[in-house]
Formats: sequence, C-alpha cells, structure tokens
Amino acid sequence: MSDTGDTGKTGKTGKTSDTGTPANSMWGGRFEASPAEIMEEINASVGFDKRLAPQDIAGSKAHARMLAHSGILTAADADAIVSGLDAVQAEIDAGTFDFQRALEDVHMNVESRLKALIGEPAGRLHTARSRNDQVATDFRLYVRDRIDGFDGALAKLMRALSLKAAAHAATVMPGFTHLQPAQPVTFGHHMLAYVEMFARDRGRFRDARARLNECPLGSAALAGTSFPIDRHMTAAALGFDRPMANSLDGVSDRDFALETLAACTITAVHLSRLAEEIVIWMTPQFGFIKMSDRFTTGSSIMPQKRNPDAAELSRAKVGRIASAFQSLVVVMKGLPLAYSKDMQEDKEVAFDAFDSTSLALAAMAGMVEDLEPVPEVLAAAAGRGFSTATDLADYLVRELQMPFRDAHHVTGRVVKLAETAGLTLDAVPLADLQTIEPRLTQAVFSVLCVDSSVRSRTSYGGTAPQNVAKMAALWIERLETPAKPG
Ligand code: ARG
Repeated sequence: MSDTGDTGKTGKTGKTSDTGTPANSMWGGRFEASPAEIMEEINASVGFDKRLAPQDIAGSKAHARMLAHSGILTAADADAIVSGLDAVQAEIDAGTFDFQRALEDVHMNVESRLKALIGEPAGRLHTARSRNDQVATDFRLYVRDRIDGFDGALAKLMRALSLKAAAHAATVMPGFTHLQPAQPVTFGHHMLAYVEMFARDRGRFRDARARLNECPLGSAALAGTSFPIDRHMTAAALGFDRPMANSLDGVSDRDFALETLAACTITAVHLSRLAEEIVIWMTPQFGFIKMSDRFTTGSSIMPQKRNPDAAELSRAKVGRIASAFQSLVVVMKGLPLAYSKDMQEDKEVAFDAFDSTSLALAAMAGMVEDLEPVPEVLAAAAGRGFSTATDLADYLVRELQMPFRDAHHVTGRVVKLAETAGLTLDAVPLADLQTIEPRLTQAVFSVLCVDSSVRSRTSYGGTAPQNVAKMAALWIERLETPAKPG
C-alpha cells in the first residue's frame, strides 16, 4: 500500500551540489547522492505517521525544556524551539503544513519546518535523542490517547446496554444454547451479559495503559546518552509514570501496541457477537427486536427490505482488527535488539485497527440505544421449545425428592408427550402428566410458565427480574462516576 499519494509530493531530495550541499539536509553528511526513487518510496512513512505530529511536538517541547533545565541548551534556545513548535502545530491544525515525502517521516518534517521558522536553535533540538526514542515515545503517547478514547467509548456502550437492561429487566425471551431454545431468560439479563464482557475489555485496556505508561525518551538511539539529561523530568512532563529502565528495551519493543491490539481484538470479538445477535433478532423469522431507520438501510431492488448494515459491518470489523494484531506479531517476531526499520510497519495496521474499533464501538452504542425489543414476540418464543423443562425437573427434585437424574428422565417423557400432542408444557392436561408421575398435582403448573421460570432464577448472577433490575441499577450508577474503574 502506498500512502504517499496524499502528501501531494513525490519530490526527491536534491543531488549533492558542487558547493557541498548534502544529499539530505537531516542526515546527509556522509551521503553523496540522493536515494533512488523506489528507496524513498519504501522508506518514507510520513504519509501515515503524520498522524503522530501532535505527540511528536509534545515530546519535542518536553525534551527542549528538559535540555534547558539540565543546562544543555540555553533558555533562549529552548524558548525559541517551544514557540516554534507551537507555530508548527498551528500550521498542522490549519491544514497548511506541507508534509514532504523527501523528508521521510513526521519527525524530520517537523524539525525541518522548525528550522525554517526559527533557524539555528532548531538544530539543537535533536541533542541527546534519536528518532528511535522519539518514535517510541510518540507512538506510546498516541496509543495511550487511543486507549483513553476506547475507555470512554466502552463506558458509553455499557451505559446504553445497562439502560436497556433496566427497561427490560422483566421482559422474558428465550435463552439459547447451540442456538436451540434452552431456558427462558430476560432481555435485560442478556444485555447485562454484554455489559460484563465490555467491562472486562475496559479492564484490559486499562491494564495495557498502566504497563504502557513508561517513557522511552532519553534512550536515544539505543545506548542512552552522555549528556546529563533528566529523564524523570521528560517522563513527568508527558504524563508518564516513570522513564523506561533500559534504553535498549525503550527503543525496541512494541509490546504496548500489541497488547492494545489484543484488547481491541477481544473487544471486536465481543462486538461481533452482539452484532450477530442483532442481525438474527432483526430477521422477520425471529422478529425479536425492531430497529429504526437510523440504523438500517433499504434495498435498491427489494422494497420490503430493512437491512442491518451497521450491525453487519460491526460484526465484520473483527477481521481487520485481529489481522492488525497478527500483522504486528509477525513483524516483531525474531527481530534482534534494538531498533530495526521493520518497526515502522507497526503504525498503519494499528491506526486502522484503532479507527475500526472506535467506529464499531460508537455504532454499537447507537444501535443499542435504538433497538427496541418486541415483548409479545419474545414471550411467545420463550414458551416454545419446551423451555421450562428444566423447571419441571427441578420441581420434581424439590417437591417429590426425586434424584435429579430420575427427574430428568420423567421430564423427558413429559416433553415427548407434549411434542406428540403438539402442546406447550403448560398446556398438557394434569391427567396426562399423572400417567407419567401420579404424584403430580395442579401446583406443577406454577413452574411451567415462562414468567415463573425466570422469577425463580434468583441465584446470584441468575436471570430473575429482581436480580437484573438490581444489577442494571448498579451498572448505571457505576458508569455515572467515570473515576471508578468500571
Ligand atoms: N519512521 C521511523 C519509524 O516509524 C522512525 C524511526 C526511524 N529511525 C531510524 N533509525 N531510521 O520507526
């Protein structure tokens, strides 16, 4: 994939002139000729890493201030650099910054522009650092920002699910195993199952953030530096907990990106399952939920259609997100320490996976807010498939002290009888039930309807409406105070 087209530049660095102008103004000292066109094309990353400009500028400002504080730069130079960098950021914000492929990457584009704006002091900014610790720092800052975005997006989705759960704490629906009707559950309980999953996803992102939050800046190229820098100062200025303890490690690992991509992948898996359920529930065959025009599309040929495109796309995003994780695993595997250019391949896949994750999270929050369960359809479906058979078996154990295995057998015979007669369990006449188990009385019918079935599931974590209402309220309260880990 060539991502250089949008820079609008394919310009080559000028050849060495007779007057000794270097082949590349940033590193051309020992080079006599410009890179081959194809070399420049494979090497350049500015087409995509320009996204890191805000982090690059923040890192450079912190570095310049630290250099002045440590007596390595004059205060005047540092001030010139910091305000020059602000001017560069302003140009980027205004869309007037001219990113040039010949300058390879975001780091050299920013520095080169700084030089044009402030002159000589710009050349002192790169003291005691390298692009290796620079890019590691920028990317950590970037991934950290994205993690914070996922945290907020997950909270929003969890809140939408919890509100839906609270509204439908007592709405019965079929619970499935093997996609076969199993036992009745409540719609709220089903929503809260996803809240739990997304809460763990949020925890995974938070865990990744905590491990990520150490600063590589000052590792320099790989060995540290002979300048008396203060790495604690730059780490603190950039909101890191501490500097990374080993300079080789600082420039050469991307585990923080891998971990975040793994968290994205698991989140995307969860999203895909919910999306799949929405797709199924929306079919006329199920008819469990309704979705408004806001999250569905029509067909250009079939006027009756209402398609769940947003759900389908959210379901599909896991493909590229999981591939990004795998892609970076393969890039990093077997790389010797410390930095290798291979690592430049970390960014495009990660950007794509992060964008896809936020898009799918936001779309899912919108869909969850939008969807409305259809209680009559859900209740009717909940009663089909002999879904209260387990309730009957439990009743036989409880009331007749039958061993569960025997109760299972008796219930099986009742199901067979109902199936043959084409009846739901609660419609089988008592006399017929008594031909199988003479000790049964009218009381048995209290456990055969779906409402009493769900009401009876009061065990901790069970589907009883009172449990669901309580849990939904708890989540809504927790999600209102973002400081508390979800
Ligand atoms: N664009 C490079 C990357 O993304 C920046 C670091 C370049 N370092 C170097 N020694 N060439 O990894």
